[in-house]
Amino acid sequence: MEKFDVVIIGSGPGGYVAAIRAGQLGLKTAIIEKDKELGGTCLNIGCIPSKALLTSSDHFSFAKKEAAKHGIVIENPRVDLPTMQKRKDKVVKTLTGGVRQLMKTNKVMVLEGMGAITAPGKVSVKSSAGETQEIETKNIVIATGSVAIELPFAKFDGKTIVSSTEALCFEEAPGKFLVIGAGAIGLELGSVWNRLGSEVTMLEFLPRIALGFDLELSNLLQRALTAQGIKFHLETKVTGVKIENGRAIASADKANEKLTFEADKVLVSVGRKPFSEGLGAEKVGVEFDERKRIKVDKHFRTNVEGIYAIGDVIAGPMLAHKAEDEGIACVEIIAGKSGHVNYGAIPSIIYTNPELAGVGITEDQAKEKAMNVRIGKFPFRANGRALANEDAEGVVKFIADAKTDKILGAHILQHAASELIAEPTSVIEFGGSSEDLGRTTHSHPTLSEAVKEAAMAVEKRALHIVNR
Ligand code: NAI
Repeated sequence: MEKFDVVIIGSGPGGYVAAIRAGQLGLKTAIIEKDKELGGTCLNIGCIPSKALLTSSDHFSFAKKEAAKHGIVIENPRVDLPTMQKRKDKVVKTLTGGVRQLMKTNKVMVLEGMGAITAPGKVSVKSSAGETQEIETKNIVIATGSVAIELPFAKFDGKTIVSSTEALCFEEAPGKFLVIGAGAIGLELGSVWNRLGSEVTMLEFLPRIALGFDLELSNLLQRALTAQGIKFHLETKVTGVKIENGRAIASADKANEKLTFEADKVLVSVGRKPFSEGLGAEKVGVEFDERKRIKVDKHFRTNVEGIYAIGDVIAGPMLAHKAEDEGIACVEIIAGKSGHVNYGAIPSIIYTNPELAGVGITEDQAKEKAMNVRIGKFPFRANGRALANEDAEGVVKFIADAKTDKILGAHILQHAASELIAEPTSVIEFGGSSEDLGRTTHSHPTLSEAVKEAAMAVEKRALHIVNR
């Protein structure tokens, strides 16, 4: 029986990054993956393919609606969806192939099949051909991720009622596309198909979109997406979806009204749940919380010695970068080093246009907790580069402690918010203040100057503001 220092179950961003770090630290490491390709949800059916389609559809939108403003004439641009999808698949293939290469470079053994914990220190791997092998290990890291939540009255059929997996692979843009749930997945895929010609309607149970993000900026995003043609029904609870002649008919309650919506395709994007089916964790006594997440301490240790868990299968935001950093910290702890994750500095992004990005606390959370904070805001319409780019929609907002000036949160709505949020995230990580950021020299002309100005606005000294 082969013996390892660490066996990682699941090769998503949490698992494969943990494997790289374990290899770097000289630990004898194996990674088990049940799917054909490495990379998990993020690389195969999540972050990466969705960003590929978001970028392609954004280019199409630019060609159709924006190019003329720059004096570029593109007559009747049209979409060649098979080529768009092929490009997406190629990007995915490059990256999943890259992960396999990284496993080789770091001397990580890749075992293909379904991993199950048979006893502490023992893992079985059942291949798709039905062969089972047993391996021994000092440590097990569970990194099995999450799956889409299904609504009992709208079960996925993969054709008309779909999850994000199928909504990334449509062969043609649905005529009418109904999205249940206005979180990150719904907003991103709703945007893709709206840009590619579908009539998109989003039904959201809450009185707002993008729960977890700053409310003011979420409302501005909703306004921008509405202007792009997406219809929103908030405070709308979907109660049933039936299929008639291949089309979906959804019923919903909105205040005292009963509404029905017809659609060619329905995307159910109402959240994800931890995935640990067939893992055998319960059998060896691993404890779960009330939401079926594996319970861990701050060192990612479960209650069973030698078994650790990271990523979507434990508590916290279901984000690839959170899983990656937990994977690194977990393996460093296993190797006897100190590793930790700063949960106050994990950025979160919705890749619509404009993108919505946030890190730390929101203004509404600060109000709810009656915290003594100061707010600094700066609009991109007052930023030279944004105007030169013809991309001036959006705003930057900082939340700083009123006494110490320490930055507690930063929120950005802008086409490039996903890149811009990295700077305030670093400043938060280092415990910096709005003055620190505001006094840092930023290149001119750049969008990042709006970040600096918003930091300066905390002390009411933003420069390029006409009406204060
Ligand atoms: P979500 O939890 O972000 O949003 C789901 C929304 O559905 C909520 O606003 C909820 O109120 C609504 N909802 C629930 N039941 C409903 C019903 N019956 N009728 C109408 N609305 C209903 O979930 P989502 O978008 O599916 O994403 C899942 C996870 O994946 C999240 O943790 C998210 O952070 C992560 N993710 C992150 C991405 C990113 O960072 N860009 C992209 C995609 C996913």
